[in-house]
Amino acid sequence: MAMEKQWFEGVLNARNNAYAPYSKFKVGAYLICKDGTTFNGCNVENAAYGDTICAERTAFVSAIAAGYKPCDFKALVITTDTETPSSPCGSCRQVIKEMCEDDMPVFLTNVRGDVIERTVDDLLPLGFSGRDLEDVK
Ligand code: THU
Repeated sequence: MAMEKQWFEGVLNARNNAYAPYSKFKVGAYLICKDGTTFNGCNVENAAYGDTICAERTAFVSAIAAGYKPCDFKALVITTDTETPSSPCGSCRQVIKEMCEDDMPVFLTNVRGDVIERTVDDLLPLGFSGRDLEDVK
């Protein structure tokens, strides 16, 4: 799946809302649902650093709060102002795994437009999921 130009505009726009006074590292996320609805995500930091929430997770939390369900999602675009696109932290990968099909594309971008395309499974191979919980003996 190719990344659409409007998705890149969307993720740049989402990043503009980042609240990152401590790290100054602004991250944008743009979640595209199968029905075409989109959700913005940005990192929201806190003076108690550990209470910071990442851009990717704010996008999913917004979508779920609006009534969307796991597997309602078509693609995720992430952006940072870095030399090469940076990739999601471990906690975000676990949340992406929970919410998305393993073959869903995730586009890692930087603000100048470099794009790296990966799937959910590429980002978290052999990831833990609800399926493991069903497999208990
Ligand atoms: N951050 C994200 O928003 N997503 C990630 O996957 C990695 C890190 C944010 C958290 C914090 O506000 C800043 O980037 C520096 O870690």
